[in-house]
Amino acid sequence: MSPIVSTKQNFDDLLIPDDHPSRAKSDCYYINSTTLLRAHMTAHQSELLRAGLDNFLMIGDVYRRDEIDSTHFPVFHQIDAVRTQRKEQLFEQHPDLHIFEKNFEPTNPHTFKNSIADPTKQSCHTLEATKLMEVQLKNHLIGMVRHLFGEDIKYRWVEAYFPFTHPSWELEIFYENNWMEILGCGIVRNEILANAGPNNSIAYAFGLGLERLAMALYKIPDIRLMWSKDSGFLTQFQNKNVNANIVYKPVSIYPQCTNDLSFWLPSNSSIDTFTSNDFYDLVRDIGGDIIEQVKLKDKFIHPKTKKHSLCYSIVYRHLERTLTQAEVNKIHKEIEEAATKTFNVVIR
Ligand code: PHE
Repeated sequence: MSPIVSTKQNFDDLLIPDDHPSRAKSDCYYINSTTLLRAHMTAHQSELLRAGLDNFLMIGDVYRRDEIDSTHFPVFHQIDAVRTQRKEQLFEQHPDLHIFEKNFEPTNPHTFKNSIADPTKQSCHTLEATKLMEVQLKNHLIGMVRHLFGEDIKYRWVEAYFPFTHPSWELEIFYENNWMEILGCGIVRNEILANAGPNNSIAYAFGLGLERLAMALYKIPDIRLMWSKDSGFLTQFQNKNVNANIVYKPVSIYPQCTNDLSFWLPSNSSIDTFTSNDFYDLVRDIGGDIIEQVKLKDKFIHPKTKKHSLCYSIVYRHLERTLTQAEVNKIHKEIEEAATKTFNVVIR
């Protein structure tokens, strides 16, 4: 499945409203106004349901514009899943129970306004069907997490909101003294099934970030290492048994090198409208993978001239060797020049 998808696939088919923040230009890689690099694997959910599949996993690369740090990278991988069940499967032991509320006519879903006002379920579904699906979903996912990390893994379920599922949850695991979100899931909104798939079923879906899971599993401290071609990194994972208990050993630690960059914004632009993600992209375009972090350090408005100024700290670090100050300065200078050209700013 191509990573280039339509806004219909990535958003509309999933009931994501026109004004939803996830559609923002600052967060997605748009190719034009109706085409973008998929921001999640859920973008393919409706087409596969439409093709007649009832249980499936979708694995692939997804693209998001985001901050730069050790757990964010503009491309990462997800596994997305859908599992649909008909009444005979879900209530095998209880033929007297139903998926849909009595007043809901699954063969004509369009006459029924499916509401998500009730936090426990969609109005078209019975509580029994919703709860049974929730238990299956959560047991399967916790089973997977225990299989990967062992019985002692600390985890928690967090109530969540996705436009395409209701109810929805996120699963967090405790990693390096922080709660880390590893997946989102929920009961598929019946409108999606009615539009694309079987209209007599209930489904759950989940989407799981692979890099973060692997980072926690192997104690990999920085997501950019996932892209390393260094044999010192790769040989730690190559030709190993899938169940081998691998703990990443840093080949060595090279020092960081931090340079600041401050600039005056052009008079038609303000510190509140300047899009940091645009700046991050430019920094990464020029610096590539030696950019470890970019942090907004200071915002300033000159009391007299009323000119707006921003200061970013750029942390440079090579994963595999020590950078010299001279080579960092050269790249920093290129970033200054590109920022001047692209954003019409004046370096301070
Ligand atoms: N697509 C969601 C994300 O990328 C994850 C998700 C998938 C949530 C399926 C619910 C159901 O965050």
